[in-house]
Amino acid sequence: MANRIFNFSAGPATLPLPVLKEVQEELLDFRGQGMSLMEMSHRSKTFDDVINEASALVRDIMDISDDYKVLFLQGGATGQFAAVPLNLAVDGKTGEYVDSGAWAIKAYNEAVKLEKPCRLLASSKDSNHDHIPTDFSVSEDAAYLHICSNNTIFGTQWQEYPRTGNVPLIADMSSDFYCRRFDPNQFGMFYGGAQKNAGPAGVTIVVIRKDLLERSPKNIPTIFNYKTFAEKNSMYNTPPTFAIYVVGLVMKWIKSQGGIDKVEAANRKKAQMVYDTLDASDFYKPHARKNSRSLMNITWRCPNEDLEKKFVAEAMELNMSGLKGHRSVGGVRASIYNAMPLEGVARLVEFMKDFERRN
Ligand SMILES: Cc1ncc(COP(=O)(O)O)c(C=O)c1O
Repeated sequence: MANRIFNFSAGPATLPLPVLKEVQEELLDFRGQGMSLMEMSHRSKTFDDVINEASALVRDIMDISDDYKVLFLQGGATGQFAAVPLNLAVDGKTGEYVDSGAWAIKAYNEAVKLEKPCRLLASSKDSNHDHIPTDFSVSEDAAYLHICSNNTIFGTQWQEYPRTGNVPLIADMSSDFYCRRFDPNQFGMFYGGAQKNAGPAGVTIVVIRKDLLERSPKNIPTIFNYKTFAEKNSMYNTPPTFAIYVVGLVMKWIKSQGGIDKVEAANRKKAQMVYDTLDASDFYKPHARKNSRSLMNITWRCPNEDLEKKFVAEAMELNMSGLKGHRSVGGVRASIYNAMPLEGVARLVEFMKDFERRN
């Protein structure tokens, strides 16, 4: 048995153990083909089944209707920051953005760089992104509204998505992809790099309403063209086959847990354990405001930087890794994605209390 530790890294991040075991079992001889999936043509019937199964599970878990396409793309969420304005800009309309943190503003900056009409509606920058800005209204004729549903660095998450009427709502869900139930019909498109909550690095899952595919202009690079990739079942060129396969296994694992509602309930319980510990303490100072707290990334400060370093180092000795906060917040960040077991969070909370007592 491998020596597994509790990995609180923000991403690439912990994966469900049964998924890793299944990958291991199937690694050398995939479904009786005498070769690894990694070695197999993406034009094979076997891989066709793999991508279709993964796509069907992405749909099934969140009840996504036939009005939407599921795409598996490359270039990370960062690629999507450019692909969104390239595909979805509309002449005479403005792409609108909410700045809830570093990734949200990167998405906006790509639209600026591409010289697409765009506008920032609101920002929480003045308070170092400790909350989700909600004081804004979307223009009726905006091309789209782009948000980042969970701000990995700051530990904030939209509690309710904005109502945008006929304006397509687009969300970067990289760090809370399928962590809780939502209504997919609220969105024109949502997307996420897989490497936090949905699989390994290398694939970006895009779910897009079919009518929006008609916006993709012909004169953009083909690799970014949603319509082309939708028509080719994400296989215009060689897709990240192995990563797509693992995404399928992670989706299967969500179902094996009882589906998205059960996974959400477990996530709420885990997050509550950490927030309760923070709230009961005068020692730890949570970064996110209560009304914006994330289920996935929890951020806090200790009384000083020396204690923060000590916290992270001592946690590592207890087999808990990845707890160092991002430099723009400092302190500690615990990423507790779907695959983080309750025991991992229980150990963290126990350590937090013990560390506070001793220091
Ligand atoms: C919310 C969010 N969006 C985008 C990104 C960038 O993703 P990628 O590295 O897949 O381009 C990250 C990475 O951490 C993220 O957390």
